[in-house]
Amino acid sequence: MAVRHDSMSALIGTPPAVHSTLAYTRTSEVEDLPHATKKKMADHLRKLEAMFTITPQRMRMIVEAFKDTLEAGLQKPAQVVPMIPTYVFGWPTATETGEYLAVDLGGTNLRVCLVRLTGGGKFEITQSKYRLTEEQKQEDGQKLFDFCGECLKVFIDVNIENGEITKGKILPLGFTFSYPCSQDRIDHGELIRWTKGFGAPNTEGRDVVTMFRKSLALHGVPAEIVALTCDTTGTLIASHYVNPATKIACIFGTGCNAAYMERVGDIPKIAHLGIDPDAQIAINCEWGAFDSFEHEHLPRTKYDIMIDESSNKPGEQAFEKLISGRYLGEILRLVICQLIDEGTVFLGQNTYKIEIPYSFDTAFLSLMESDPTDELLMIIGIFTHFFALETTLAERQFFRALAKLVGRRAARLSACGIAAIVSKMGYLEEGCSVGADGSLYNKYPGFAERIHEGLQDIFGEKGRNVVTHHAEDGSGIGSAIVAAMTKIRKDAGLYPNL
Ligand code: GLC
Repeated sequence: MAVRHDSMSALIGTPPAVHSTLAYTRTSEVEDLPHATKKKMADHLRKLEAMFTITPQRMRMIVEAFKDTLEAGLQKPAQVVPMIPTYVFGWPTATETGEYLAVDLGGTNLRVCLVRLTGGGKFEITQSKYRLTEEQKQEDGQKLFDFCGECLKVFIDVNIENGEITKGKILPLGFTFSYPCSQDRIDHGELIRWTKGFGAPNTEGRDVVTMFRKSLALHGVPAEIVALTCDTTGTLIASHYVNPATKIACIFGTGCNAAYMERVGDIPKIAHLGIDPDAQIAINCEWGAFDSFEHEHLPRTKYDIMIDESSNKPGEQAFEKLISGRYLGEILRLVICQLIDEGTVFLGQNTYKIEIPYSFDTAFLSLMESDPTDELLMIIGIFTHFFALETTLAERQFFRALAKLVGRRAARLSACGIAAIVSKMGYLEEGCSVGADGSLYNKYPGFAERIHEGLQDIFGEKGRNVVTHHAEDGSGIGSAIVAAMTKIRKDAGLYPNL
């Protein structure tokens, strides 16, 4: 059994008010304002349905293109979907033990953890979280790593004081850095490009391990980075540690991505390294980049194109922009804004709040979809409390239907990615378990069910053989297990330079 301690969680900065209590009181008689007729809303919905619905046939076409892209990434370096060999060799044995630090830089928060692997698939974890500000995501990269180093130093000091960490001990550290990095060995990774809205200058093209080591030295942190991983690779390893049926791991959160285990002999681009072709190595797909730049395979709507063109990385992460939590709320907001421009909704009301880019959090979509009341009181709450807008029942029903379209499309596209790996690896007959994590997967109502439905649309009845389940914490536990596996491998003299 796992024991978790979250006692020292310190959130710096103000978390978004998304999950705070909503005000459900109605403040005015909405019928006084001009509102769209039911018929008009139904007409709009029909058009949007046609734009956002992906048929089973279209899904199967996407899967085929996806498979080709995955293969291309294994063949040659520097492909759009980079299929990164992570130098995590094979599965954990669950006999990995020891004390490890884990630092997780990957999205909204920075997390530092102390993980104690006690063997037999068991562990203990103590952790602290620090909220990253939007400014930190854009300021100089070295400064960002220095902040991580500083947080880690504070965390270690506190844990020395309370007796969790022995003073003077240098602890091995697993660094989870969830952005695409090309790796020459496990403790190295050149950032290919920032994703998920990060843009810190002087980082792309550089080795983030060297940068982070510099920060550890600056703050005198008693830790040695032994492995660089990504959240998906960590999730793959951590999920397998507790559930050996796991063959694939996915993250559906601020970003979206997958990892799986590949035979070295089937990765032509690393043939020159002389690794046993029958050895297995975890691949971080970085599938969020599927269909980037060319935009040949994915059905993008005009709203998706608007998001892409106004993002800090136009053309990039095409798949991720249709799926991940960073963008779903924005897609819905753009549809609403167009209806406002056309004079269909909110006539005579002040709409400036909803016109602010990224003001419509993806968490609102899940709340809207799960509203249990006939009157859709939750939706009233969201619109009045956050945007000072009055809605009619017909409009609320429309917004809920719209949220469903956007959420359902994201899940069905996610199913296409999973199906591509399943089909490429021949896992369909024997079936496979997919460890999944991330806010969308964990909090969006029906997301997992829609993925499963999508898998059956692609594969027919056999699609039932592929089952997703909530994964173990990859960026904390997974990262520590990877560090432990690396230490064991290197102590045994197996590919000590990788
Ligand atoms: C983005 C990152 C990737 C990460 C994913 C989920 O796609 O590039 O490394 O795994 O988000 O966090």
